[in-house]
Amino acid sequence: MAKIIDPYGSELVEDYVKIIKDFGLGTFNPKEYPEPNRIMRRGVVFAERGMQIVLKAMKEKKPFYVLSGIMPTAKKVHFGTKMVLENIAYFQKHGAKTFCLVADLEAAAARGVSLEEAKKNAMEFQIPAYIALGIDPKKTIFYFQSENKDVIKLAYEASNKITLNEFRAVYGQADPARILSALTQIGDILYPQVKEPMPGVVPAGVDQDPHIRLTRDTVRRMKEKKFFLPAGLYHKFTPSLDGNLKMSKSKPESCIDLPEDPKKVTKKIMRAKTGGRNTVEEQKKLGGEPESCIIFELYKQHLIEDDKELQKVHDDCKAGKLLCGEDKQNCCKLMEKFMSQLEKDIGKARKNINKLNFITFK
Ligand code: TRP
Repeated sequence: MAKIIDPYGSELVEDYVKIIKDFGLGTFNPKEYPEPNRIMRRGVVFAERGMQIVLKAMKEKKPFYVLSGIMPTAKKVHFGTKMVLENIAYFQKHGAKTFCLVADLEAAAARGVSLEEAKKNAMEFQIPAYIALGIDPKKTIFYFQSENKDVIKLAYEASNKITLNEFRAVYGQADPARILSALTQIGDILYPQVKEPMPGVVPAGVDQDPHIRLTRDTVRRMKEKKFFLPAGLYHKFTPSLDGNLKMSKSKPESCIDLPEDPKKVTKKIMRAKTGGRNTVEEQKKLGGEPESCIIFELYKQHLIEDDKELQKVHDDCKAGKLLCGEDKQNCCKLMEKFMSQLEKDIGKARKNINKLNFITFK
């Protein structure tokens, strides 16, 4: 298999190896999983915590769940959210009960967005966007934190299982809003097990692992409950266009929102860091370096579905046949196509918003 679909086939090697070591994570092995999805095959999903029981349930067709939370604040998401949804879609396809909650309590406490506004945002934007990005609305259970008493009960149960120092370690600070949000999130992650304990997985960016660890520690201390330890499945970050590890809102020139005006995105892409050489002659002679090219990383993570096609771009670059100018043009075309499709799909999902399965509580 080519280097590009090897977990460590990118410039970011050391950062990610270090994360696995420092966090004590398991290395993700796509060969253990039936029909691994694109980001699993290509080593973009690279680490996990506690996935064996999920895998076993999945293979034995026993009940298990996949879950994520929506932060209903700004009306945009990012590439990381896209990967979370691809992984949710994967487990959903392989039999997982799927939960998607709106973190309206957290938005109100920690982000200053009122419950009403949070609900409006979620219905108008985030939920349609999540559907557009891959979850099957017919097979997904939605709820609002503020309406789910079981979640609140779990949060209270968790509250005396964790120390302030543990909160500080996970959140940096430990102000009341964050503490309540963290406890509520633990409630969310365990909620699918209230009726029937079962293994579950929360796909996320690897920076979210401390939350999973905290949840698992809490479960271990809930002696009276027989919850399964929830697992985490982690993907790499989509790198910033300037070559840094992670796209960040604080550098809008190097960050792409979903959705975003394709013209703006094109401009940004044209300035992205590539694996090109100093001169055209040199590049024709030596070939480019796709393993340290952000454009290539965008293809690998998001824009090129077909492995053979990706391989060809890789090989043509290496051979000095595909130069950065042309390559960036190609990338812009794919990105434009992706963005306009996304806008359309969000619009379509928005029209069907009243058909979703919300759990309602009396
Ligand atoms: N804290 C998450 C965020 O800021 C939202 C969230 C709430 C969540 N509950 C969750 C995410 C449970 C995953 C699982 O985006």
